Amino acid sequence: MSTSVRRSSFLLEGPAVDYLAPVAALIYPVTLWCFHWSVNAFETGGRSPIAIVAAAASFASLFLLPGLILLAALHLASIDKPNARQLRARRVAFISVAAPTILVFLGVLLFMAHNPIPDSVAWVAIWMGAIAFVGLGGLSGGEPHETAPSQRVSTVRVVHGISASVIILLFPALHLSNHLMGLFGAEAHAAFMKVARNLYRAKLVEPLLVGLLLFQAASGLWLSRKYVAGRMDLFRAFQLASGTYLAFYVVGHMDSVFILARTYLGIDTNWAFATGAPAGLIRDPRNIRLVPHYWLGVFFVLSHLSSGLRLVLLAHGWRKAIADRVMIGGSLVGGLVATLILLGMCGMRIQFA
Ligand code: HEM
Repeated sequence: MSTSVRRSSFLLEGPAVDYLAPVAALIYPVTLWCFHWSVNAFETGGRSPIAIVAAAASFASLFLLPGLILLAALHLASIDKPNARQLRARRVAFISVAAPTILVFLGVLLFMAHNPIPDSVAWVAIWMGAIAFVGLGGLSGGEPHETAPSQRVSTVRVVHGISASVIILLFPALHLSNHLMGLFGAEAHAAFMKVARNLYRAKLVEPLLVGLLLFQAASGLWLSRKYVAGRMDLFRAFQLASGTYLAFYVVGHMDSVFILARTYLGIDTNWAFATGAPAGLIRDPRNIRLVPHYWLGVFFVLSHLSSGLRLVLLAHGWRKAIADRVMIGGSLVGGLVATLILLGMCGMRIQFA
């Protein structure tokens, strides 16, 4: 019998839920493979309805599994007095939220190291290790831990917020608008990027931007490590989960842009690079992993910023109901922007008659 105390139980009960996130992360690449297989079967096998259903189901699971991992993390965060295993499960679940972007990062690192082992072997080792880590928590006694609300304002938290504001001014609006231009075609994307690069690739701006983003990732992980064992509401848990995703995303994305593309391959990081041309994002067995990776990157960057804005509004005496709506509204906009960008990257075009 579980000795933990739960404030809410909106998901499965029982010890199985402690393993849900790493197990979902473990099987996540299988959904990518199923999608690739069903698209292939659709194109080569006479466009059968079974292949369409299989493609739709596996495409949905590319997002359902990360959604399930997020729910598992939020659920584990809602346990007031977690026992040792649940505390480990909570830590692992927050890291599992980043599984789609960790898979991309891992693939790039192994590719640059000339693939000493296949991605799948490294992937299984990572998540089997995570599952064992959770299980071993059950051996060290089941006594519940007292969790205290982690509301104290630390200097790192304040600097993390200030640095985020500078980053917002420097980059994301420009970068995401650039990718939205893909809806009008590769030329429109390239024309916008040519102008935007004058700003973010300027001699002083680029190192500042990279430095701030690396600081943001490191300080975010530091904050998350500090807060993850504490008591938190759903908003704080979501902020932690989205921040954990972004820490891996930002480092992996910069590794892809600066090290893999510009240094290792010596190619321009343009529309063709972003969309995995000539094969594209959908048809290539490796590129398909970029779809959830990018979608979640855009969604989490906007929803994480909205979570931060919610806290700022609350600190300035705004009504909780309004601050909550700002956060939820910002996240919905994040989902919409991410969807539009990905539709453009997968080939959808807007044309004026
Ligand atoms: C659909 C989503 C995204 C795609 C397809 C994408 C793609 C790209 C591409 C192609 C570049 C190279 C730009 C250039 O050569 O000028 C780039 C650079 C970069 N991206 Fe993204 N990106 C996405 C989202 C994000 C997000 C959410 C962040 C986080 C804030 C981010 C951070 C960066 C940074 C810091 C750079 C380096 C900028 C520089 O060249 O100085 N990206 N990205």
